[in-house]
Amino acid sequence: MGASATIRARVESLRDEIRYHNYRYHTLDDIEIPDAEYDRLMRELQDLEKQYPDLVTVDSPTQRVGAEPSEALKSVRHRLPMLSLDNVFSEDELREFHRRVAEKLEFEDGALDLQYAAEPKLDGAAVSLLYEHGILVRAATRGDGTTGEDITHNVRTIESIPLRLLGNGYPEALEVRGEVFMPRAGFEAYNKQARAAGEKTFVNPRNAAAGSLRQLDPKLTAERPLDMYVYSVGLVEGGNLPDRHSEIIEQLQAWGLKTCPERGVVRGVDGCLAYYEAIGKKRDSLGYDIDGVVYKVDSLAMQRELGFVARAPRWAVAHKFPAQEELTTVVDVEFQVGRTGAVTPVARLEPVFVGGVTVSNATLHNIDELHRKDVRVGDTVIVRRAGDVIPEVVSVVTSRRPRKTKPVSLPKRCPVCDSHVVREDGEAVARCTGGLFCKAQRTEALKHFVSRRAMDIEGLGARLIEQFVEENRIKSPSDIFELSKEELAERERMGEKSAENLVRAIEASKATSLSRFLYALGIREVGEATAHNLASYFGNLPAILEAGAEELVKVPDVGPIVAKRIREFLREEHNLEVIRQLQDHGVHWQDTDPSMVAEEGPFTGKTFVITGTLPGITRDEAKALIQKNGGKVTGTVSRKTSYLLAGEKAGSKLTKAQQLEVEVLDLDGLRALLKP
Ligand code: IVH
Repeated sequence: MGASATIRARVESLRDEIRYHNYRYHTLDDIEIPDAEYDRLMRELQDLEKQYPDLVTVDSPTQRVGAEPSEALKSVRHRLPMLSLDNVFSEDELREFHRRVAEKLEFEDGALDLQYAAEPKLDGAAVSLLYEHGILVRAATRGDGTTGEDITHNVRTIESIPLRLLGNGYPEALEVRGEVFMPRAGFEAYNKQARAAGEKTFVNPRNAAAGSLRQLDPKLTAERPLDMYVYSVGLVEGGNLPDRHSEIIEQLQAWGLKTCPERGVVRGVDGCLAYYEAIGKKRDSLGYDIDGVVYKVDSLAMQRELGFVARAPRWAVAHKFPAQEELTTVVDVEFQVGRTGAVTPVARLEPVFVGGVTVSNATLHNIDELHRKDVRVGDTVIVRRAGDVIPEVVSVVTSRRPRKTKPVSLPKRCPVCDSHVVREDGEAVARCTGGLFCKAQRTEALKHFVSRRAMDIEGLGARLIEQFVEENRIKSPSDIFELSKEELAERERMGEKSAENLVRAIEASKATSLSRFLYALGIREVGEATAHNLASYFGNLPAILEAGAEELVKVPDVGPIVAKRIREFLREEHNLEVIRQLQDHGVHWQDTDPSMVAEEGPFTGKTFVITGTLPGITRDEAKALIQKNGGKVTGTVSRKTSYLLAGEKAGSKLTKAQQLEVEVLDLDGLRALLKP
């Protein structure tokens, strides 16, 4: 049956679109759509071509998998083609793969014990390394599988790739293949720096790896944090390798090539599934991106028997994880107001299934990010949800932008309370100036106030707070302490029993600590650790209320900005009023002795390092003693160290101090310095 005009048009438009994305991916290293979407386009085209073979043309993107070699880099022909893998997306599809393997190998028992080498599917760029007589002579990208690009100059800059193999026994010519990737931490750091310098950022670590490898100037590659795990061999001449995949990989490791530590050997489909699940759980903590796992029949003899279809082996398959990036459209861009008034743009999305859940909101972080990404209502965007991280809009597919969209701008007034929205110089965050007058800020401040690590009032949940604020029943934190059992019991979904429990929890929360109380106040920049440091430094609230900025910066981890925030907060009469009201309602704590860092003392200007076990005194006590007398305590010995206070079993710090001729004291020596 011939294809209709509509189908012909669809095929043509699919091809155009795929060519466009191939170009962006391979030549520009600047992807616009997620893999999952690309795969769908490709699949649709393949299906149509299968259904209407007349429509297949030699230049259809389906006829070639992979890249246009770039103009600038020299091309390299792979003596053995670099293949790709078939994908499966479900247990059923995996069982089907295994069934075909077992059948082809003429197993009669279902091949329950068949051994597979199982490895993460690394999400980077496939690279071939050619070693001759143990020396790295050439590195190439995969390209279209037949012809790749010469990237030897760049690969030489990757420190974990040996320029010369270790040990001996390697074949005269040995081609190893693997994945070059950018570890997540390196990717984040790179993008952060690029953003600060106003340079182009990478959409994801894979793009970053591919882009870095294809630089013309190896100096640029050398600055990128790249790494490589090898996972197979290509050409082998003048020597032999073991006859199991897993043993070959072990051997490569012994020759100094890095291999993925997560690899293993499993039995049968059930072994594969258990591996898939285990790696899936570890996925977010791996430090590098993976997009599935790969199973390979471990025996090379069996691999040979199984052979290949088209461009993929019959003996291996990739079992993909659910996509972490998907496409959807932006229905609206709204601004949310947080506890400290931060006005955060949020994209409301057409619901989309991504990273295992349905997502309908995604953060845009702040107004700069929103402008940088230029997200507009009506746009098609990539949303990403990785692990438990909140979903975010990665980028806009500008080629799909509808006509007449408008850039989104920061509202001048708070969407909740209509106060002015301001943005201080140099701040990424815009804020509502409404303070606790703003219901959004009040709600969030109260949620924070009652939270577990603050006043710890169990049972006063977000919904209840929202209702109370909406009804103006709670205007200030102290109103919480006036809630009665009767009025709570009248609330929807709140029985006698839970009302009673809540009243008890509210009562119990009154006995708190200064550090919890300070944290609960929600002073900007004062997190738990800072609250704790303030409390132990000053010991009581009046001392903190009186402290000027010069005093505040003496508290560990308090810098000028934090000091300024604390002063600003405590200068406001309404904040002092809140504190008074809370104390009037019975909120109390035990004051402690201030830790008293003397302004001046015998140790002023001196830096100490403490090591080893001191007689009859803990290191913390020794530290307090030094600080009390004006000294500073640091962790590492350097030329700037004045004294090393060394106890028993002092180790490398003592050696270092001796090398640098830093004076070494024991506890008595320290005490002697303090005697007048
Ligand atoms: S083996 C014949 N193992 O996946 C088998 N590939 O779709 C060739 N990949 O181009 C590949 N991790 O970039 C293999 N552990 C792994 C892999 C892996 C990632 C990539 C590789 C290849 C693509 C195939």
